[in-house]
Amino acid sequence: MNKKLVSAAVAATMVLSLGAMASADDAKTVGILMPTQSSERWINDGANMKAQLEEKGYNVELQYAEDDTAQQVSQLENYIGKQVDCLVIAAIDSGVLVNAEAQAKEAGIPIIAYDRLLMDTDAVSYYATFDNKGVGTVIANYIKEHKDLDAAREAGESYTIEFFMGSPDDNNALFLYNGIMEVLQEYLDDGTLVCKSGRTSFEDTCILRWSQETAQANCENILTANYADEDLDIACTAFDGFAYGVKAALLGAGYSADNWPLVTGQDAEVMATKNIIDGTQTMSIYKDTRLLASKAVTMVDAVLQGTEPEINDTEQYDNGAIVVPTYMCTPVAVDQSNYQEVLIDGGYYTEDQLK
Ligand code: BGC
Repeated sequence: MNKKLVSAAVAATMVLSLGAMASADDAKTVGILMPTQSSERWINDGANMKAQLEEKGYNVELQYAEDDTAQQVSQLENYIGKQVDCLVIAAIDSGVLVNAEAQAKEAGIPIIAYDRLLMDTDAVSYYATFDNKGVGTVIANYIKEHKDLDAAREAGESYTIEFFMGSPDDNNALFLYNGIMEVLQEYLDDGTLVCKSGRTSFEDTCILRWSQETAQANCENILTANYADEDLDIACTAFDGFAYGVKAALLGAGYSADNWPLVTGQDAEVMATKNIIDGTQTMSIYKDTRLLASKAVTMVDAVLQGTEPEINDTEQYDNGAIVVPTYMCTPVAVDQSNYQEVLIDGGYYTEDQLK
């Protein structure tokens, strides 16, 4: 190469790399807040969001608060101080975030609510979630079909059932409970389902911060107090973590394959899927976190690039201040009959992960 060509090539390289630096510097930053790493689903949600946003050229900051509400508030304040361009929030208890969200709005930082609705704020632009009431109806319909409650009713038979519902500070939990009761209430009313503890209301069955330990303790107490002479037939739980707690309580109370109840869950975590395979959990709800992340990413694009996000609900999610435009993904029941097709063939897990 002659001298002229060399310097032209150097100059071109400099222009290219300066260009790349400029575009990296210009890239907008998205601050993501996730509730906890104690449950696998949120780890997947965070990783999927980060990867998908980075692929689109955004800078991403990702923080977990380990179910500590004060920590999540300070993480949010920190993002606002750093002047991130957009916030994506999966709240622990959205009630405590209201003031900081107002500050974000003041600072011109748009907010996307992720999976859990942000309550009592007008600072939220969009909400990406699963059909939370739908999760409840899918769980309850699974129970209805697999225990054939209509046939039991005809025959004058009954099943015992206990409920382990979600956190009262998470809007999703009441939606899910309402979905369950929309299907099961009539069978509780006519005695086809018998809840021996008498704990059927949301207030009596909700579990703060979705705690596995509390679910286990509640189940142990219920089994001791109410099921000395009769088996529990159905443990209707709202979360895989609860199903793990219930499993430990059932093992402790001497349950075995012969009298193991139908146990429900939510999230189709790896451990839950293994339990489904070995029969200690009956079903779970598969929520494809890749899909949810992709919907949230379209919302980030919408607020930062002025595009139109896909919305399929403009009525259900009233947060007390505004009705938040929402995209709801569809939950799917998984059990022994379809986990292979849905989870493995669908590329969510590899066969090896489930060994
Ligand atoms: C989510 C569920 C999850 C639960 C506990 C809810 O807000 O929608 O998928 O199981 O939190 O982490």
